[in-house]
Amino acid sequence: MTRASLDKQPHEVASMFDDVAAHYDLTNDVLSLGQARLWRKEVAKAVDARPAQKVLDLAAGTATSSRPFAAAGAYTVPCDFSLGMLKVGKERQPHMPFTAGDATKLPFRDDTFDAVTISFGLRNVQDTDAALREMYRVTKPGGRVVICEFSQPTWKPFRTVYTEYLMRALPPVATAVSSNPEAYVYLAESIRAWPAQPELAEKLQKAGWSKVAWRNLTGGIVALHRGFKA
Ligand SMILES: C[S@@+](CC[C@H](N)C(=O)[O-])C[C@H]1O[C@@H](n2cnc3c(N)ncnc32)[C@H](O)[C@@H]1O
Repeated sequence: MTRASLDKQPHEVASMFDDVAAHYDLTNDVLSLGQARLWRKEVAKAVDARPAQKVLDLAAGTATSSRPFAAAGAYTVPCDFSLGMLKVGKERQPHMPFTAGDATKLPFRDDTFDAVTISFGLRNVQDTDAALREMYRVTKPGGRVVICEFSQPTWKPFRTVYTEYLMRALPPVATAVSSNPEAYVYLAESIRAWPAQPELAEKLQKAGWSKVAWRNLTGGIVALHRGFKA
């Protein structure tokens, strides 16, 4: 793996997701050994969407991550900058208000949403801090943010096995099941480079979020961070 694959420009990230869009959900299920479904249930609980609320699902891709909020009765806006992902999503869920937008320059007014959430997307955004500030801007006062992202396993022996061996094994597996293995080399490398739970919490606080906390899922392979706009 090369550092070069992490230095992707936003348009390269978007086009990488355009290429994997058609098989994205299936590959996810295979690579996460079914855990993705469990993580999504936990995100839904944390977001706690209610009828008549407005929820922004940022970096929503095909909107698989958005479905639970819509099912709970909230007006749910899936937003992403990969037109390929949005197109596949719109074919599957024509009723949803898919919106093209960059996480660092959101096409929404200040104080619009009761909840803003992002699943497996923040790690892909080139300027994390700008995205956290934009998410804060478009959230209503009293509203909440929930971030679901790959993180660091808490048990040290497992953390070593996970980052040193499993993440290195991912690209060859992806070559067998994915139409674009390069995307999964990037996935593995970006997970290894991503800040651990306390550092991401600090970034949220710096962006203005209060009452920041996190919860580990599957031993910290994934973490849910949440915060509130005062
Ligand atoms: C791994 S997918 C996650 C999709 C979905 N949230 C899910 O859980 O299945 C990451 C998504 O982030 C989007 N993305 C990356 N950078 C972005 C940015 N700056 N603005 C908007 N979307 C972005 C990609 O286009 C891609 O669809």
